[in-house]
Amino acid sequence: MQASIDVVTFYDEHPINLQEILSRAVASGLSVDSLTAADLWTWDQDHYGGLAAVDAMAETLQISEATQVIDLCSGLGGPARYLATTHGCRVHGVDLNQTRVDGATELTRRVNLSDLVTFSQADVCKLPMADNRFDCAISQEAFLHIEDRESLLAQCHRVLSSGGKLGFTDWTAGAGLSDEHRLRFANTFAASRIVSVDEYETLLQEAGFRVDSVTDLSELWQDILKDRLRMFRSLEDETVKRFGQSRHDTYISNYEFFVERIASADLGGARIIATAQ
Ligand SMILES: C[S@@+](CC[C@H](N)C(=O)[O-])C[C@H]1O[C@@H](n2cnc3c(N)ncnc32)[C@H](O)[C@@H]1O
Repeated sequence: MQASIDVVTFYDEHPINLQEILSRAVASGLSVDSLTAADLWTWDQDHYGGLAAVDAMAETLQISEATQVIDLCSGLGGPARYLATTHGCRVHGVDLNQTRVDGATELTRRVNLSDLVTFSQADVCKLPMADNRFDCAISQEAFLHIEDRESLLAQCHRVLSSGGKLGFTDWTAGAGLSDEHRLRFANTFAASRIVSVDEYETLLQEAGFRVDSVTDLSELWQDILKDRLRMFRSLEDETVKRFGQSRHDTYISNYEFFVERIASADLGGARIIATAQ
């Protein structure tokens, strides 16, 4: 679905950004010159459910020190740094947005993880990596932005070794999700395609994956998203300073609409684990 806001602009004006993370670190008494990865964990996870969500993914995917991980749509790199810190694995993050890639690289350098965690700019539908390069691909709350889900999954399959695992969490369409809702999400969140769990299963199988598990997160997300809405409201001063009052107000009213759709089950969420065949 053609959106009136493009995804790069959406994240260039996002309340969670490099400067906001560093200023929250300073406000809590930390020095930005001597940060550890753990210092950032409260602020650098731009998905639903924070570290527990990454733990659940890592456990299901059996990530270990030897696993070569690609984080698709890695944003500011919070999950990549957390996985490298807790499991000792190498993680390469890919994001379309150069500002996000620069922010992720900067935060990773500041916490001395650049040996294990790297980032590059690319569209995940056209990954420049070699075939069979990774054991595991992860992604959190990002595929909703990608209309060409067929190319995305084909690329995931290509860069994974045979038997490699794909684990992702994403928005899923509920029975009540109308065309009007979809249009609003496209125009406000750059959510260009929202698919149901059944559609995801078909898309994955057509791309050469075996679906191992589907975990419905819809109920869990209800409270998590109410908390995130409170968090975004609390960022008003920072957001207004950077992007203006109108951006803050619009973001909050769009987020309220999103939380309502989740509460009414028009929209849901799932964690899906699949194996490249
Ligand atoms: C909600 S953020 C998720 C960040 C990260 N996964 C996390 O949990 O902190 C979604 C990210 O997807 C990226 N993105 C959207 N479309 C993309 C594409 N086609 N290729 C690569 N990255 C994309 C955006 O730039 C944004 O950084």
